[in-house]
Amino acid sequence: MFTSSVRLPLLLILLLLELVTAEYIPPGPSYRCPKDKLLLHPCTCDVESDFGISVSCNNTNLASMSIGLNNLATFRLPIERLTIYRCHFTRLYGSLFHKLILKVLHILDTPIEVVEEHTFLGINYTLNELYIRNSKLKQFPVSAVKILGNLTVLNIESHQITELPKDSFALSDMAGTLMRFHLTGGNLTAPPPEALQPLRRLRTLDLHGNQIAELKRNQFKGLRDVEVLDLSYNEIPKVDASHLGDLTKISWFNVSNNRVRLQGTLS
Ligand SMILES: *[C@@H]1O[C@H](CO)[C@@H](O)[C@H](O)[C@H]1NC(C)=O
Ligand SMILES: *[C@@H]1O[C@H](CO)[C@@H](O)[C@H](O)[C@H]1NC(C)=O
Ligand SMILES: *[C@@H]1O[C@H](CO)[C@@H](O)[C@H](O)[C@H]1NC(C)=O
Ligand SMILES: *[C@@H]1O[C@H](CO)[C@@H](O)[C@H](O)[C@H]1NC(C)=O
Ligand SMILES: *[C@@H]1O[C@H](CO)[C@@H](O)[C@H](O)[C@H]1NC(C)=O
Repeated sequence: MFTSSVRLPLLLILLLLELVTAEYIPPGPSYRCPKDKLLLHPCTCDVESDFGISVSCNNTNLASMSIGLNNLATFRLPIERLTIYRCHFTRLYGSLFHKLILKVLHILDTPIEVVEEHTFLGINYTLNELYIRNSKLKQFPVSAVKILGNLTVLNIESHQITELPKDSFALSDMAGTLMRFHLTGGNLTAPPPEALQPLRRLRTLDLHGNQIAELKRNQFKGLRDVEVLDLSYNEIPKVDASHLGDLTKISWFNVSNNRVRLQGTLS
């Protein structure tokens, strides 16, 4: 008798509680930051969304960052964006990215000179966009990026690369996916026409702010889908139709701030 009279109100209370909590489920994002913030240290989870979380690692070294990112990987969360900002290392290598599900990677204001070959293993299926800004990259990281088979944007801004090798994209898995290539703000000279030729999906080619001092005959061979070409702020003395052969879809061509005299028609 006594026990059942207790059980009834308890059940009622539970029922009421359930109703109350059901009403207060916040319409939050599908992917949440891990609750234990220390696990990600020195990185931080900054944004939650229905597409994934955004994480940044600021002002740290490669070893500490690797620990944070390895812990992050155990949550198997999709990462919409990872930003590495003002860190202290010159070689980017190791397995720090291998287990992440990562879509967009920004490496900013970090003095990397080299990205080693296997750095992007594992994220090659998911990575869509790679930005490296204000680095000390001396060579285009051919072997590191060639496995990025789902990359649509490659943007290297403020670098120390002077040459784009002939085979930069020859064996590259991004040849059929890359749509925007920016290599800007450095001392790059004119790339050999063979270097860019494999990029058959390319729409935007941006080489502004370099030291390109001449365009070669058939400089843009094979780039039939390019719509935007930015060669501004270089040292180009002249542009004529023979340089622009295959660019039949071009709708923006910026060659301002060169030493240029346009010659003939550019149709
Ligand atoms: C790290 O830097 C990024 C980019 O500047 C910024 O958005 C983020 O808030 C910074 N995080 C911390 C913890 O300072
Ligand atoms: C490749 O990228 C596309 C978006 O461009 C995405 O929808 C797709 O899921 C990615 N592939 C893999 C295996 O993640
Ligand atoms: C990712 O890399 C592995 C190992 O190099 C390769 O076998 C696989 O085809 C690559 N996947 C994509 C989508 O590029
Ligand atoms: C480009 O070359 C000039 C002259 O050699 C040099 O002063 C400058 O630092 C170089 N810029 C870069 C981004 O390497
Ligand atoms: C070149 O011109 C295009 C179109 O006007 C513009 O969007 C782009 O910013 C210019 N490039 C630079 C480096 O100013």
